[in-house]
Amino acid sequence: MAETDEDDRPEGRLARMLGRVRSSRWLLAAAAGLAVLAVALYEVPPAAALAGVVVLALVAAAGGLAGPARIRGKPVRAAGTPVWPDTGMKLLVEVMEDPCFITDGTGIVRYQNNAATERFGAGRTGDPLSFKLRVPELLAALERVGRGDTVETVRFGERVPTERAWVARVAGIRMGKREGRPRADFIFVRLHDETEMMRVERMRVDFIANASHELRTPLASLTGFIETLLGPARKDEVNRERFLKIMLEQAGRMARLIDDLLSLSRIEMKAHVRPEAAVDLARIVDQVVDMLGPLATETGATIRRAVADGGHVVRGDRDELIQVTANLVENALKYGRDGGLVEITLAAERGPDGADGRLLTVRDDGPGIPPEHLPRLTERFYRIDADQSRRRKGTGLGLAIVKHIVARHRGRLTIRSKPGEGASFSVWLEAAKAAEAPREAS
Ligand SMILES: Nc1ncnc2c1ncn2[C@@H]1O[C@H](COP(=O)(O)OP(=O)(O)OP(=O)(O)O)[C@@H](O)[C@H]1O
Ligand SMILES: [Mg+2]
Repeated sequence: MAETDEDDRPEGRLARMLGRVRSSRWLLAAAAGLAVLAVALYEVPPAAALAGVVVLALVAAAGGLAGPARIRGKPVRAAGTPVWPDTGMKLLVEVMEDPCFITDGTGIVRYQNNAATERFGAGRTGDPLSFKLRVPELLAALERVGRGDTVETVRFGERVPTERAWVARVAGIRMGKREGRPRADFIFVRLHDETEMMRVERMRVDFIANASHELRTPLASLTGFIETLLGPARKDEVNRERFLKIMLEQAGRMARLIDDLLSLSRIEMKAHVRPEAAVDLARIVDQVVDMLGPLATETGATIRRAVADGGHVVRGDRDELIQVTANLVENALKYGRDGGLVEITLAAERGPDGADGRLLTVRDDGPGIPPEHLPRLTERFYRIDADQSRRRKGTGLGLAIVKHIVARHRGRLTIRSKPGEGASFSVWLEAAKAAEAPREAS
């Protein structure tokens, strides 16, 4: 407790005792008044009344009448205990967005800021910090800091109610000189939530690992074929031709992957700038259908267009909207039913806030997507069946690109599917102002 930390010199002790008597003066005055009444009205012997008041004064001097410490509000200023960090200190703690606690040298909470109350609930008078944070590493650090002058950093995780990662900084505060005071007067604990940072970091690491893996596979295949062509197959005319074709395919795969990665990073760099050009979506649909004609012939699928009457000019970037439409139609052809039907519809639809917009939907009648995959489909490199995607020359980046482009356009991407009943991908985009004509090259 704070008492053990105090100045033990006789002058100090006397000053402390006087201080305590002074802080209990109203109580003692009331007791003296009662003693006079008792002598006057009830014939209590004056010596006994005087003895009562003296005993009360001694109890006060020993600290027995000190009121309980409070967590918020008035400073704790029990006589002899260190002066409570002033309002400036509280203001500093309050200004911080992170949850912060100030405890006494033994870990009893004396003050907590609003962020701490919001995150960990209101404090109760005199509760130790361990009631709120049952983290052995943190409590051990609190103990060490209370005894020394160190500042410690402790990382810990929470599983309930949700998984969170915290980093705590724990520092001792001394209000006066250190001599003869083995403990810090107060301990400052600041908790910083690192969950989001860790998530982003994990995503970055995963992304690099995935990208490297995707590049390494065709590269390994290329190296293998080069070695074979230089060695055992040096004079093998028939196989040389076959191997070179495979090598070309693998090199193409690497080039596609690099193009997609560059495209993704370009879109991310422009994420905060909304494209403003007026673009005719109906025209884009026509262009994409022409472009993917050969793929449709290959899979035997039929592409049907249902473009509602009226203009379909939206606010956007033409090249990026071609990329979105092409990705969705290509997916429908690749993962839909061979010889099936791919339907592209384009119609007017109001946005959530009533804004005039257009809804582009690409629907196929293939095997569909099991529900557990739906939320993850737009993650980079996420594929339901990686082998099938690779066979179809996929990199697993298509829908991630679509998502980023749609977000940059302040649009909305909706994916619906029931296994066995095909899949439907819809993109809503805000319409351009009526006066704006599409500005685009043919
Ligand atoms: N219409 C669809 N029907 C069923 N599954 C689909 C459909 N569209 C996408 N998928 C699934 O979602 C995964 C991710 O699609 P995405 O477009 O991001 O990558 P990809 O097509 O594999 O490669 P890329 O688009 O880069 O060429 C696909 O691998 C596929 O498993
Ligand atoms: Mg794709």
